[in-house]
Amino acid sequence: MGAGNGMTVDYRVLPPDVAERMARIKSRDVVLRVENLGKVFAQRGRETVALEDINMNVHRREFVCVVGPSGCGKSTLVRILAGLEQASSGRILVDDKPVDGPGPDRGMVFQKYTLFPWRTVCQNVMFGLEMAGISKDESRRQAMQWLQAIGLERFADSLPHQLSGGMQQRVAIARALAAQPRVLLMDEPFSALDAQTRVRMQTHLMEIWRKIDITIVFITHDLDEAIYLADRILVLKAHPGRMEEVIEVPLSRPRRAEQMTSAEFQATKAHLESLIHTPAEETADEFEGTEVPLLTLVTDVVE
Ligand SMILES: Nc1ncnc2c1ncn2[C@@H]1O[C@H](COP(=O)(O)OP(=O)(O)OP(=O)(O)O)[C@@H](O)[C@H]1O
Ligand SMILES: [Mg+2]
Repeated sequence: MGAGNGMTVDYRVLPPDVAERMARIKSRDVVLRVENLGKVFAQRGRETVALEDINMNVHRREFVCVVGPSGCGKSTLVRILAGLEQASSGRILVDDKPVDGPGPDRGMVFQKYTLFPWRTVCQNVMFGLEMAGISKDESRRQAMQWLQAIGLERFADSLPHQLSGGMQQRVAIARALAAQPRVLLMDEPFSALDAQTRVRMQTHLMEIWRKIDITIVFITHDLDEAIYLADRILVLKAHPGRMEEVIEVPLSRPRRAEQMTSAEFQATKAHLESLIHTPAEETADEFEGTEVPLLTLVTDVVE
């Protein structure tokens, strides 16, 4: 089972330390439970089944990634988990209590930069704390601790637009965590970042996660990102969005970027690709009639 030596590695075979860790995770309480969740969108008399019969248990301090092709319902799922969207059927429990609507037990980080542009970095992190009724002074004190934890205390009085995209997302993570949620929900939070910043953000997130009692559900369509981050990966398939498979990632922790070239990593990725790959005929109609016309006068056609 050597790394990267061309031998065939079965992604389902967990190295002993990983198997032990998975057993430990599964012995912990279930923080987030999703039961028979379904979602139907009705629009102008047409119904779209976005999600059907989704069941999942996420254990305390587990890191779960959800992957799947575009349109399979990833954002819908995470929005329902956050309480921003109503489920059509099924239910969600946090710490065994059914939840309906948003609550301080779930924090959310979105793909788009969603900091309040008129609030300083510190005031952004203070937001959830103030909403929870914590005094301004105490909110400020706690917000500064969070900014220190993510290494951005120097920017406490800056406005979001003065920060890079990666820094803004770090503040968004701090803002979500400051309210001390049980579950952190993330919808493609790093997909707008360049490749290098992205890997640094992934490592940064895992460091934070190691140090606090937080359970993470992270949506991504980037398979490398999912394998690098997750304990388990939930694979959704499209039309309707259903659970296709749950994969236990056969990689030790703490994760290191070098693991991305290992045979275990590559075997997992190959399997995920085989699940997510959509045969051309299934997507053909979506792209029909979308041949790109010449947008400028070209004298040289580039191959
Ligand atoms: N508000 C809405 N009204 C009607 N249909 C919707 C709505 N939101 C999502 N849908 C439909 O539900 C399905 C799932 O959409 P969703 O955005 O959850 O997919 P996704 O997996 O996040 O896709 P992507 O990878 O492109 O972000 C799609 O068919 C989409 O068109
Ligand atoms: Mg989405």
